[in-house]
Amino acid sequence: MVPTRARVLVIDDEKLIRWSVGERLTRTGFEVVTLESAEQGLEHLAEHRPEVALFDVRLPGMDGVALLGRALAIHPDLVVVMMSAHSSIDVAVQAMKDGALDFLVKPFPLNQLDVAVERALAVSVSRRQLTQSSSEPRDERHGAMVGASRAFKVMVGTLDKLVASQATVLILGESGSGKEFVARNIHYRSARALKPFLQINCAAMPEHLLESELFGHERGAFTDAHARKEGLFEAADGGTVLLDEIGDLPLAGQAKLLRLLEERRFRRVGGSGEIAVDVRVLAATNVNLEERVKDGRFRADLFFRLNVIRVEVPPLRERREDVGLMSSHFMARVSHDLGRPPPRGIAGGAMEALQAYAWPGNVRELRNVIERALILHPGIDELRPEHLPAEITRHREAGAPVPSEGGAQLSLQDTERKLIVEALEKTLGNQTRAAKLLGISRDTMRYRMHKHGLDS
Ligand SMILES: Nc1ncnc2c1ncn2[C@@H]1O[C@H](COP(=O)(O)OP(=O)(O)OP(=O)(O)O)[C@@H](O)[C@H]1O
Ligand SMILES: [Mg+2]
Repeated sequence: MVPTRARVLVIDDEKLIRWSVGERLTRTGFEVVTLESAEQGLEHLAEHRPEVALFDVRLPGMDGVALLGRALAIHPDLVVVMMSAHSSIDVAVQAMKDGALDFLVKPFPLNQLDVAVERALAVSVSRRQLTQSSSEPRDERHGAMVGASRAFKVMVGTLDKLVASQATVLILGESGSGKEFVARNIHYRSARALKPFLQINCAAMPEHLLESELFGHERGAFTDAHARKEGLFEAADGGTVLLDEIGDLPLAGQAKLLRLLEERRFRRVGGSGEIAVDVRVLAATNVNLEERVKDGRFRADLFFRLNVIRVEVPPLRERREDVGLMSSHFMARVSHDLGRPPPRGIAGGAMEALQAYAWPGNVRELRNVIERALILHPGIDELRPEHLPAEITRHREAGAPVPSEGGAQLSLQDTERKLIVEALEKTLGNQTRAAKLLGISRDTMRYRMHKHGLDS
């Protein structure tokens, strides 16, 4: 059975920690089990396979570090975050050498917990995609590309030309504009379609793990390396790898990646032999790479390697003609998923509002808006303004100016940061409501806040 929610196991002998951590993560949407001893934890792990575990370092009976070793022996994929008091930070740091991903020092603010669990989950997802069999059905996120605007057609024209090539492609676009969607399109239309499409989020992956996740490691390469492990590139042999958020790849990783792109070979961590792979590399980002090159945060040589073919995914506000088409598409899609007949159509007022809105969160935001409308208003026969969030209808009433397409150029980063700050101000720092206001998920909100350093 495929669980619908990510599972987190929390082991701590302090009741208050179990309660507050459990409460927070449950609210965030995780399935949480809290237990008070290592022994209970092992019993649980014998029967269950959570994605993420939080272990207290000091436990009565078996301690957290011993538990870590035993837990990883049962589930080598398990991603563990240690929790420790100030007095035992050294033990927690040691635990990272033994295979823990991260540690939290008690007492920790809950937003630190959120970030740690979110990262842990990203690592878990990428580990698990390696162990999934390739006979699984195609990812459902690979679907028809919807759009009819000029900007969209220009992009599709570029895609048509590059699908058959083996070239590395750099996919640029604002958050939620469809970069991953485009990457999947390239893969599933190419001759590589029957081989794996694997991706890694370079921003969420902690630096000390990145190399071994990408290239794998040999047994004994570091304390935790109990067995040889295949990396992403090896597992994707014959297929495609998407390096998402490439702008956040640390410099050390950039050097290794450059070598891979130039020579099509790499070494596992701790390995001496070279491995050759046949992988098509796609890279995506919403940051301005040219700027990062200037700042010295991104290698110029890697940038030139990646920048050979470049696909720019236009923001939704630059292809307003697509809004109607996409809205209908998502109404049909979401209704289908909810097992309901779709509404007949979109009322004029609602359509106007949808088309006038600036869509800072792009296609993803539009999808969320439609989804929310259909969930909150089951059985509607047409989509009307009152089914839409106030943000969207207010824009129309106030005749709010649509952000000019010429004029002063703000970087995407600045704009995104500004929007987040504004939303947080409006909601007095309530992240859930701010996320709603922006039409993005709470996970995305937290992730973006973290990216812009707004979370502490
Ligand atoms: N042309 C399209 N037709 C149909 N659905 C689309 C299209 N473009 C994007 N989507 C949908 O919009 C959502 C966001 O797309 P995607 O995840 O690819 O964005 P992204 O640019 O990778 O975002 P981020 O910067 O946050 O990583 C997804 O649900 C995707 O399926
Ligand atoms: Mg993406």
